[in-house]
Amino acid sequence: MSIDSIDIAPFAARRARVMEHMGSGLAVIPTAAEHLRNRDSHYPYRADSYFHYLTGFDEPDAVLLLIAGAHPQSILFCRTKDADKEIWDGFRWGPEAACERFGFDAAQPIERFDVQFAELLADQPSLWFSLGYDAIWDARIAGALNEVRAQARNGKQTPAQVNDIRMTLDAMRLIKDHSEIAIMRRAASISADAHRRAMCATRPGRHEYEIEAELLHEFRRRGCQATAYSSIVAGGANACILHYIGNDRILRDGDLLLIDAGGELDGYASDITRSFPVNGRFSGAQADVYRLVLDAQIAAIAAIKPGVSFLDPHEAALKVLAQGMLDLRLLQGSLDGVIESEAYKRFYMHRTSHWLGRDVHDAGAYKRGETWQILQPGMLLTVEPGCYIRAADDVPAAFHDIGVRIEDDALVTADGCEIITHEAPKSIRDIEALMQEAEND
Ligand code: GLY
Ligand code: MN
Ligand code: MN
Repeated sequence: MSIDSIDIAPFAARRARVMEHMGSGLAVIPTAAEHLRNRDSHYPYRADSYFHYLTGFDEPDAVLLLIAGAHPQSILFCRTKDADKEIWDGFRWGPEAACERFGFDAAQPIERFDVQFAELLADQPSLWFSLGYDAIWDARIAGALNEVRAQARNGKQTPAQVNDIRMTLDAMRLIKDHSEIAIMRRAASISADAHRRAMCATRPGRHEYEIEAELLHEFRRRGCQATAYSSIVAGGANACILHYIGNDRILRDGDLLLIDAGGELDGYASDITRSFPVNGRFSGAQADVYRLVLDAQIAAIAAIKPGVSFLDPHEAALKVLAQGMLDLRLLQGSLDGVIESEAYKRFYMHRTSHWLGRDVHDAGAYKRGETWQILQPGMLLTVEPGCYIRAADDVPAAFHDIGVRIEDDALVTADGCEIITHEAPKSIRDIEALMQEAEND
């Protein structure tokens, strides 16, 4: 997001909410480190999701401190201005300008973090931190705690409690606010168009990577900074490999193509899967499996509303899929029997939903004690039933190597849900019509 257009109000509001929840104590939220890819080339930098959720600040080498209590305070530590480095690597805010533009109470050079942190930690009742998330930070935090402990005879007191700040942040991130929903709608719309573009570009004889390139073209052309995860462009039998990312095979006439791809926009993921015929026309067996998965998805979507369990959409999809597997003679027995024995897992081995947000498999609890999470307005989850039929002697030949998944992103609303990825064609009729049109162009 361009800093000219960024609205800092949601970030400040989130910091205030975190400190209110903490009540007292000091929270430390570092951003992600830069990582080498090879020799002196780095992976594209991406800020830590928690840090960015609370700051909107994109630079590496930054840490947020939150001091809760009667006078809540947020302090950013970041890189200083450096004319030489900025010639090579680009603009950096520096503490003074960052403090003003992003609305912190104070900002300091990152070099002063260790000393300042140990000073601020002394006499705090509690420390809030993501213990175990990053070994380097674990050691740094332990070092600061020990530094305070070493000053006990000078009257300094070490925090008696270390709390996991993720518990608070995960609960907040589970319910998306208005600014998050606006970004996720845009990410969904761009990603839906990327799938349309991929459908139009697909022909027998092209490679999976050529279609992947069409997706990337649309993501970047429309402002997505990255893909939200490695794109899966899986022709034929590759669709039955759930995390296939090789994307280097030739697409064959008569095969299906499964694409699971979504853009990341301003730190938010989109997650869409479509499955369609390489030649633009579903065969009879492909259409049978496709209709089954689509019916399962429609049943799951119908189950999404406030007050129901996170598991309800999965169970709705499962019933349809298991019955379909019996009808198509992929399985034998009764509906209750194949659900009870989990025989359906041979063809449907994953769950139907996960939370979606800054991370594709987003933060947020799925279960509280013995109870699955109850859906509430503002939650965002995927709905992604599938059916993956590997070639085998006991499976009718017409179904061999057919892999279908249909995935959309659902925002829970006051009385149901909104499918924010609805612009990606999904019915057999719409997919065939779009591909036909592209072929005639
Ligand atoms: N694209 C990752 C997933 O669907 O969970
Ligand atoms: Mn997903
Ligand atoms: Mn996906």
